[in-house]
Amino acid sequence: MFGASVAFVYVLTGITGNLARTKKLPALYRIVSQLVRENRLGRCRIIGVGSRPKQIAEFRMLVYNACKEHVREFSEHFFSQVLWPLFQYHALDLRDQAAYCRFREIAELARGASRSARLVIDVSVLPELYQCFCEGFRGTLESFGPVDDLTTVLFEKPIGEDRRSAAELLKLMHQVFGAAHAKTWDHFLGKEGFRSMLQHRFSTLEIKRRWNSHHVRRINLSITETNGLEGRVYFARTGICRDMVCNHGAAYLSGLVMPEPRTHHPGDIQAALLEGARSFVPVDPACCNLGYYVRNDESNLPGYPEELAGLGLDAQQLARALSLGTSFAGTLVSRAPAWRNSRYFRLPTGITASGTGFSIEVIKRAPAAKKQVEVCFDRGKENLGMDRLVYHLEPGPASVTAFCGERQLWSTQLGSPCPKEAYEQLLSDVLIDANTAWFPGDQMVLACWDMFEPVIQNQTPEVIEYPACVQALDAGAVYARPMAAAPCGLRTQAAC
Ligand SMILES: NC(=O)c1ccc[n+]([C@@H]2O[C@H](COP(=O)([O-])OP(=O)(O)OC[C@H]3O[C@@H](n4cnc5c(N)ncnc54)[C@H](OP(=O)(O)O)[C@@H]3O)[C@@H](O)[C@H]2O)c1
Repeated sequence: MFGASVAFVYVLTGITGNLARTKKLPALYRIVSQLVRENRLGRCRIIGVGSRPKQIAEFRMLVYNACKEHVREFSEHFFSQVLWPLFQYHALDLRDQAAYCRFREIAELARGASRSARLVIDVSVLPELYQCFCEGFRGTLESFGPVDDLTTVLFEKPIGEDRRSAAELLKLMHQVFGAAHAKTWDHFLGKEGFRSMLQHRFSTLEIKRRWNSHHVRRINLSITETNGLEGRVYFARTGICRDMVCNHGAAYLSGLVMPEPRTHHPGDIQAALLEGARSFVPVDPACCNLGYYVRNDESNLPGYPEELAGLGLDAQQLARALSLGTSFAGTLVSRAPAWRNSRYFRLPTGITASGTGFSIEVIKRAPAAKKQVEVCFDRGKENLGMDRLVYHLEPGPASVTAFCGERQLWSTQLGSPCPKEAYEQLLSDVLIDANTAWFPGDQMVLACWDMFEPVIQNQTPEVIEYPACVQALDAGAVYARPMAAAPCGLRTQAAC
């Protein structure tokens, strides 16, 4: 494909951080490389910002290593001749309000006098700096004016620590940058597996007709990772719910129940996702549990308590970190029209409920990393002989497989055989296409908090221990707990 040349200035704060090195720099490599192949690379600049001064050779080595380690098709020639010349580095302490005028000067200078290039400011530092960033930027408005129509300011998840703080932060972002320019992003919405699943769901008539509580008994979302704490003080303070469940998990659940968007227009996609998110009844802590991994002698890996001990936390912080957990499992109810009969049900299987239940499990230090959606059909209905549809979203190319009992009926690959990495997809969306359809809007951020607010506020679920990397953890065996009664006001089909 050949088209108009692309010009952008991308300011990456937190360029020395884990996320920038493992995901964003490799994504930039691939994006620039694609633009070169398509002969569309216009005037592009990539400005890295970190808190500490760096020699140019040290900065070059950081960018080089990040790309070399994470880009399979890495080329020395491309790196040194094309990519590296686009970079500059600036040390700015973003806690210092005086740094922000310099910040804006650097960005505007890189755009050049015509200001015709798109400007994307990626605030990829720890969330506790977001308020400071907004306040600091506000201090520049008088001298530099508001951001223009070609500017987007991106904030990584999580936004806030709960619904109230998220709402305050979003309000501040709007005041400083304008609602149209301040965006939050959730990289799980950039994942090809997730988008392919939705496409399959909406474009396959037989599935589309059966995607409702008349046919579906249960949908299980499983997000498992093999990694653990790995020295991240931030995770220890945040816990599994704020770090993953209230954003990634909630966004995927919303996608599972969302109605078909009217069109591909960004507003319609966001409205459908939001409708999905808002359809969920806030989770009942009695139908959830949290857990943390403990040492498993076979895997030789330390348990979460030992990893936390290495961070030098005091006894109170340690107890809090354990109570916030590294795994979450819960069941939810949707009130969307297609899922009207949805009701609570037991984890694991073996239930006789006639409504539809939605379960989610998010587990760190699981035996394998996977993202999977299992759709279990009602045996009493005509479902093309299927008991289950399993959407395998990650790792590798996405696919969907239909089962009758243990027998595989058919399997189809979804999406491309070499899916784009999520950050590459989202960065292309914003840098090249200026399309933020898959960026959660503010209302979506708040609706996701709403879904899990009772757990965030009460922290009442049982906290269990699970052995790190043990196969038996799969499928919620460890998570079995008695079913709580449906909360008052929820009329289940059985109750009717
Ligand atoms: N890591 C992930 O896998 C992941 C996934 C999804 C979302 N996120 C989100 O992405 C953001 C960054 O995460 P991360 O894992 O990359 O964090 P990180 O490894 O701790 O990196 C933090 C970055 O922020 C910079 N920084 C810290 N204080 C600063 C200051 N006062 N002024 C200027 N720069 C400062 C650091 O620069 P110096 O090194 O120069 O101090 C570093 O580049 C967080 O919001 C996180 O929630 C992370």
